[in-house]
Amino acid sequence: MLGGTALMGAVSGAVQSAQSAAIATGAFTPDLEIELRAVPDQIPLYRGAPTHVWRYRAKVIKGDERAVSHQPGSPLGPVIRVHRGTRVRVHFINEVSQPSVVHWHGLLVPEAADGHPRFAVGPGGRHVYEFEVINRAGTYWFHPHPHGMTGPQVYAGLTGLFIVSDDEEQALSLPAGEHDVSLVIQDRSFTRDNQLQYIGSGPGMMGMMSSMTGFLGDHIHVNGRPDYMLAAERRPYRLRLVNGSNSRIYKLAWHNGTPLTVIGTDGGLLAAPVNRPYVTLAPSERIELWVDFSSRAAGEELNLVSLPFVASSGGGMMGGGMMGGGGPAQGSAFPVLKVRMGQGAAVSEKLPGKLASIPALHPEQAHNLNTPRPIRVTASGMRWSLNGRLFEMEGVARDEVVRFGSTEVWEFINEAGMGMMGSMPHPIHVHGVQFRVIDRRVHPGAMAAWRSVSEGYVDEGWKDTALVMPGERVRVLMRFEHYPGLFLYHCHNLEHEDMGMMRNFLIKA
Ligand code: C2O
Ligand code: CU
Repeated sequence: MLGGTALMGAVSGAVQSAQSAAIATGAFTPDLEIELRAVPDQIPLYRGAPTHVWRYRAKVIKGDERAVSHQPGSPLGPVIRVHRGTRVRVHFINEVSQPSVVHWHGLLVPEAADGHPRFAVGPGGRHVYEFEVINRAGTYWFHPHPHGMTGPQVYAGLTGLFIVSDDEEQALSLPAGEHDVSLVIQDRSFTRDNQLQYIGSGPGMMGMMSSMTGFLGDHIHVNGRPDYMLAAERRPYRLRLVNGSNSRIYKLAWHNGTPLTVIGTDGGLLAAPVNRPYVTLAPSERIELWVDFSSRAAGEELNLVSLPFVASSGGGMMGGGMMGGGGPAQGSAFPVLKVRMGQGAAVSEKLPGKLASIPALHPEQAHNLNTPRPIRVTASGMRWSLNGRLFEMEGVARDEVVRFGSTEVWEFINEAGMGMMGSMPHPIHVHGVQFRVIDRRVHPGAMAAWRSVSEGYVDEGWKDTALVMPGERVRVLMRFEHYPGLFLYHCHNLEHEDMGMMRNFLIKA
């Protein structure tokens, strides 16, 4: 159904048959029970023919109806809002023509609920997810995770938000209700008859090249809509920015240079607000901003833009900042969205100086501080890989086993100039944990690219994804304290993930 490719029709055989539903266990009593369907649909986006999409539709079967909302006019999935401690059961029903599975990105859930590709169900299949929400208040999201097909399925529209609140956050009285706005940023390309175009996995050299780069579209959509405009009151807002793009990285700033006040990252609120000239947002990362529009004039317009940056350290096939999927190269400038101030009176509100309690960073708690576990970006033939290995459905190497309850340092390493492949940015994501960034180092030869984005990193809080630029090494601290089992770590450039830049790791009880 996606213009120009046969992707959406192919169904691989190696999945559980339809109706092989996991049976809800008796021991778990949910507070909230949701039916979540992945369905084909069509929606008018541009003048002319409606656009065929795949989307999540949800309804509450038990519990608070207000927990699920769909944004009118948006092809994206629902926003699910829950308080920390809520026990959730989701009945997933796959009504699209490929195997699929739902991953709750950033949420700490048991192995069986984490959306590992081995739990994908075929067309007509169902899967039941059960978990208690133990995460801090924050902006999490969900998307498909079947092996080899995550990119095209997210691209087709399968994306939803999972927003968690908790008591600590509610005591702050941050902007709420219509003043708390989620903004999912994605790049898309279209055929002349308004159909989504996904070139990434096409046959031949062009397909191969754009899979190596990752898909890059030429239109920016926010919450699934082109030319997104937020009609705002003159008062403070909480903006939750989510990069839901397959591969594109954004360097987000106000067009007039007003600094950004960041209050949260992937894993929720920071200890205190921090200011940045711009924020760097790689695929799957979230940044929460507190934005005060009270000093803006009635009717004034503000533009959130993505500034240009250098995406490569030069050399190799990836060195020229080449195109992927026909769209403008990684690092190109884009308008992202507009905010238009209303005519009402200005309202001022104070942002608290202290937001949340975050434990001090203690890298010495790790048993391997002096010998961090290396997660090295490698190239295996014409594919990106991790430590020289491609994804294997059940495979775990001996050096991919960690002890339940242990604290470790992992080092994501993206060496500059990897021979023929050159070097490019990779956002590395780990399931089953939220981690803290200890430090970043960069190869002197890769400084130009690094300096063009590094002021926009927000490493002060909890993270589940870290962008690793060409020539960069990032050390992160994590404790495997939530659930044992088989989890994933991978590049969140979805074309890289689909081509095998993903591995299991085992948290061994
Ligand atoms: Cu958002 Cu394993 O992915
Ligand atoms: Cu990658």
